[in-house]
Amino acid sequence: MKEKKTKKSLTVSSVGDTSSGHQSSESCCACHSFQDADETRLIRSSLLEWYDEHKRDLPWRQCSHDNQNKRLYEVWVSEIMCQQTQVVNVIPYYNKWLKRWPTVERLAKASVDQVIEAWAGLGYYSRGRRLLEGSQVVMNDLDGKVPTTSADLLKHLPGVGKYTACAIASICSGEPVGVVDGNVIRVLSRLRCIGADVSQPSTMDSMWKLAHTLVDPDRPGDFNQAIMELGATVCTPKNPSCSSCPAKESCNAFKKVEKEKKLKPETKSLKSVDDNKNITDVEDLVRCPLCRPLEEPGDPDQGVMNYPHKAKKKPPREQKSGVCLVQKMTNEGQIKYLMVQRPEKGLLASMWEFPSVELSADCTQKHRKEEEDKYLKNKLGVIVQKVNQRTSLGDIVHIFTHIRQTYEIDLVVAFEDDILETSPSIEQNVTWVTQKDMESMGVSTAMKKVFACVDGNTTSKNKKRKLEDKKQPKLDNFFQRKSPKKASKTSGGK
Ligand code: ADE
Repeated sequence: MKEKKTKKSLTVSSVGDTSSGHQSSESCCACHSFQDADETRLIRSSLLEWYDEHKRDLPWRQCSHDNQNKRLYEVWVSEIMCQQTQVVNVIPYYNKWLKRWPTVERLAKASVDQVIEAWAGLGYYSRGRRLLEGSQVVMNDLDGKVPTTSADLLKHLPGVGKYTACAIASICSGEPVGVVDGNVIRVLSRLRCIGADVSQPSTMDSMWKLAHTLVDPDRPGDFNQAIMELGATVCTPKNPSCSSCPAKESCNAFKKVEKEKKLKPETKSLKSVDDNKNITDVEDLVRCPLCRPLEEPGDPDQGVMNYPHKAKKKPPREQKSGVCLVQKMTNEGQIKYLMVQRPEKGLLASMWEFPSVELSADCTQKHRKEEEDKYLKNKLGVIVQKVNQRTSLGDIVHIFTHIRQTYEIDLVVAFEDDILETSPSIEQNVTWVTQKDMESMGVSTAMKKVFACVDGNTTSKNKKRKLEDKKQPKLDNFFQRKSPKKASKTSGGK
């Protein structure tokens, strides 16, 4: 779940003061709040008992318990990596990161390029950059000490929002604050039958109040990890394992579904799971702000999966780009590719990509080629005077959160002497690299997919050619073809 960029202040209602999450005036239904201290105590103890027995063995859970500053750094890295990314996918990145930069001091000396490279594949690259910036704030302004309270973490560290600040402070400092991420939203919305749209700030405010009320003041870090873990492994978006849930006795959604199952079919005909129920007279219609809106009834067959409810999102914007992979055979006999670094801000900031141009939806192949050549020449200062081969490799689609991006890929093959270069007119870095060089550069997943197309294309074509016609030149050995002019140049030890 993405942390919203909000004004950096933390209004955490004091925990232990359970009043905010118990029956409150903002909802008319008792099912949305914790009824009393006994109920919260029961949920806390059931979750913690379950967590103690079932918790996953994650590397940041066995980290430096004897050195608080190091532990704060490790948990900070893990929490930033875990945002928008599944825990299992984070583990190898986390281990590699900590091996490379075991302390905040070491990270502060890294370069943006090194950090981007280490982040490649995790997505949402600005997280890595913010982590680097944060480490530099710690070293330059905070005497090397990572803040220990949620308020200070939020105040000082770029990229640290309310969730991350509360997660780090509860886990490392025992601060009794709750956390709200995607998993917690799911658990809380089911526990308390919250059917209001979770993309609304008012619904999120209620979630935070519930989280702060429910957190165990004696073991806040474990409790927060327990509720996240429950959401990740038991109270899952699809096919939750309600029968093995430690909180089922306290889960209002579960109880409601069980009760409905027992109802006779004719009484069940209320084709909605809405909690704005028992309404017989329109005059009595009081809309509870935490119930599901009447105009968007849930599906009774979905049971607890009707929670949480998110209003339908706009479909992602369609975007099309032409990607031109320029493959150059150097005079030394190496194959190199032209790459350009993206701007420091915006989507995929500072990542390396193959020259790409945005295209209109109805762009023809001819026009795409013209646009690519224009971009190479006018922006990157690269003019391919003699193209040995130009191949269209087809399209790939990559989904970013809000964009459905189609890349139409062209491969342009040329000898070094046939490529004229002037200085680029854009401010981004431009470079020629080997396939091996790419491994240590920050190349986005989307561009890796693009490159796999070239790689796959040449490999599969070669295999096919081997079977069909050995006389045909191979694409990746294209330059080794006997061309009298080039052959003499290459062997001339230039
Ligand atoms: N998701 C994000 N941080 C987590 C943590 N510490 N434990 C379990 N799931 C998480």
